[in-house]
Amino acid sequence: MAASRLNLAIDTGSEVVVKRFRDLEPDPSWAFWHLTQAQTSYATHGYHRYPAKFIPQLTARLIEEYSQAGELVADPFMGSGTTLVEAKLLRRPSIGVDINPVAYWVTRAKVQAIEPERLRQAVEQLQNFLFGNTGVGFAGWTQPSLFGDWKSEIGDGGWHVPIPDRLTYWFPPQSLNALMQIQKAIDALDADAQIKVFFRCALSHCLKPLSWWSDRSVKPMRNLNKRIPDAYTVFFRHVKRMQRGNREFWRLLCERDALNVPAEPYCADARCLPVENHSVRLIVTSPPYVTSYEYADLHQLSALWFGTMTNLREFRTGFIGRSNGVTAAVDAPLGSAIAEQIVDALSERNPRKAKEVALYFAEMRQCFTEMQRVLRPKGVLCIVIGNTHLHGIEIQNAQVFAEQLQALGFELERVILREIPSKILPRTRDKATGRFAKTTKADYIAYPTEYIVVSRKR
Ligand SMILES: C[S@@+](CC[C@H](N)C(=O)[O-])C[C@H]1O[C@@H](n2cnc3c(N)ncnc32)[C@H](O)[C@@H]1O
Repeated sequence: MAASRLNLAIDTGSEVVVKRFRDLEPDPSWAFWHLTQAQTSYATHGYHRYPAKFIPQLTARLIEEYSQAGELVADPFMGSGTTLVEAKLLRRPSIGVDINPVAYWVTRAKVQAIEPERLRQAVEQLQNFLFGNTGVGFAGWTQPSLFGDWKSEIGDGGWHVPIPDRLTYWFPPQSLNALMQIQKAIDALDADAQIKVFFRCALSHCLKPLSWWSDRSVKPMRNLNKRIPDAYTVFFRHVKRMQRGNREFWRLLCERDALNVPAEPYCADARCLPVENHSVRLIVTSPPYVTSYEYADLHQLSALWFGTMTNLREFRTGFIGRSNGVTAAVDAPLGSAIAEQIVDALSERNPRKAKEVALYFAEMRQCFTEMQRVLRPKGVLCIVIGNTHLHGIEIQNAQVFAEQLQALGFELERVILREIPSKILPRTRDKATGRFAKTTKADYIAYPTEYIVVSRKR
């Protein structure tokens, strides 16, 4: 396979793509330097942390430029649902897909505004349950033996009994007991599924600070010296913040007559979208990166807590860009001569990494084939993606995607280079391994710029 790849010369199509990218200057109007953190986390955008979140204003601009009110917008790698929230605010129905169940639950919480007074009453009821005389109280529940009896089911399911030893590995007893009390009180609330999803999203956001999870590490590592704050304080502080966000979202949707605009998240694979052929006007998405974030690992606390993960190895399967467990040679076509060259160059230096990158490009091509199926003729696909380095080789994601898309029948309409002032990404990488590294150890900045690749279905 490597030999045949080496024989592949970059063809004329690839040259055109490479040239198109080579002379680009960053477009300052897409950097959004002026935005404060409060502005990028307005409405429900601040509900839950998520790696490599979109800046909502960037998504909104793409939606406004490439679709009309009422036209269907999709995000096949929706993450925390930024595209869906912005589409709703702009009166476009939307669907989103993510393989990560945590992304699904977070997005579900974010796309549905709750009437503020109804939410205020639910918060009050929850506080009464926990701190008043009438409810479950929190003094009596200390033993993890109760885990066995504990069931938490809402709406269309997905919340089950958590696994005690993994939880006791990550959480100190005082956090665990408080979290269990809060969870039990949420279950006992006389409220609809939407309100319970809201509180569970709040709880999920608080899991990291309340656990031994090391704040400084980009990998899941314990820091047993970490100072862990009081769980009730952390939880209700975040609930208050979310209430403010919900109020703003509710107000904006009312002003724009958009309360009932559908926004449907699914927990599914981007290679199999739950959408009819030729139905989507616009896709705005940012795919996972190869061997950078292990999304499955990063979200394991929430996935554990909500019982959507019983085995980390199985949980990782299906995540595109994974590095764990990639051993077999990749048979699926990469669909890009640039990709073939990158894989060849990498296999000289690290054959295992070369396999991971080949698999990544092959799987991304499968996703693009599926996006092509669901897009309407002349429908637009906007991909936000940065290039990266592995073992000193530039992994030209943007150029590869552009080439794959052209081969699948898309026209490369526009390429924007943007600087990333405040995207939530670790800022540094180790050049040899390509992994995120401590600032002191790293030898260059990761993703200082990224591309927006706009393609149109022919
Ligand atoms: C860069 S993030 C998207 C972030 C999103 N734009 C936001 O604003 O939060 C990429 C997402 O792709 C998801 N993903 C990875 N493999 C997938 C697959 N096979 N199908 C669907 N989603 C997948 C990851 O779980 C992750 O949430």
